[in-house]
Amino acid sequence: MKTSGGSDAMKRRAGESAAERVTDGDVVGLGTGSTAAHAIRRLGDRVDAGLDIRGVPTSFASRELAGEEEIPCLDLPEAVGPKGPGIDVAIDGADQVATGTGEGADAGGEADGDDPVPGGALIKGGGAAHAREKLVDAAADHFLVVADPSKESPRLDRSVPVEVLPAGRTAVAAAVREAGGEPTLRCAERKDGPVVTDNGNLVADCAFGEIADPAALSATLSSTPGVVEHGLFVGFADEVHVGTESGVRVDEL
Ligand code: A5P
Repeated sequence: MKTSGGSDAMKRRAGESAAERVTDGDVVGLGTGSTAAHAIRRLGDRVDAGLDIRGVPTSFASRELAGEEEIPCLDLPEAVGPKGPGIDVAIDGADQVATGTGEGADAGGEADGDDPVPGGALIKGGGAAHAREKLVDAAADHFLVVADPSKESPRLDRSVPVEVLPAGRTAVAAAVREAGGEPTLRCAERKDGPVVTDNGNLVADCAFGEIADPAALSATLSSTPGVVEHGLFVGFADEVHVGTESGVRVDEL
């Protein structure tokens, strides 16, 4: 479920810009995807040059890359446990980033068409890693999103990836339809059958059309039995680094 109109050079500028924010001694959440991979590679170069950090990977893929880059890693439970150091900063990509200029819900939660979707609300999970990504990104003191301009949108309208317990797939599909969405089980590309996540679960990509109230939909999905985690990230991101053709734009969220 990846679609990005951004070039690799744009992704690299975004990832490297965020990696420059990391300072000596930091514990760093290592996101998943092609843009976050540029940040991990840049952090690897900085570790080679003497930077002292520990990474907290969000997926099998980000752990493998951190290993190649010789970035020392902690498991999430170690990092955020009672004696753990916590996570200073997380760097992660997104499939869609709300720019805060669309129409959406008012403070009371009713979509009335006058108020903006919160800037920085995200859709993630194109790589099916959103369950661990949300744990790490939410635990971080600062969460930096890395993106190219094709990810930015005044409103969220991409399908929302929902990680589902295999035994709950039909019940969750019914609940998604009840909430106004159309679920599609994500199929693997070089394997017969479905995508299986790092956690052994399935992914349903759920099309809701334009999401007027991401916080309300997030709450609905979170309270659905059988849903392990969904890809709406509302109120987590602190900053977005957008790689462009000529540089990087950094916006606070
Ligand atoms: C992984 O499941 C996703 O949340 C990724 O962070 C997201 O798909 C962005 O990936 P790219 O940087 O490859 O577009």
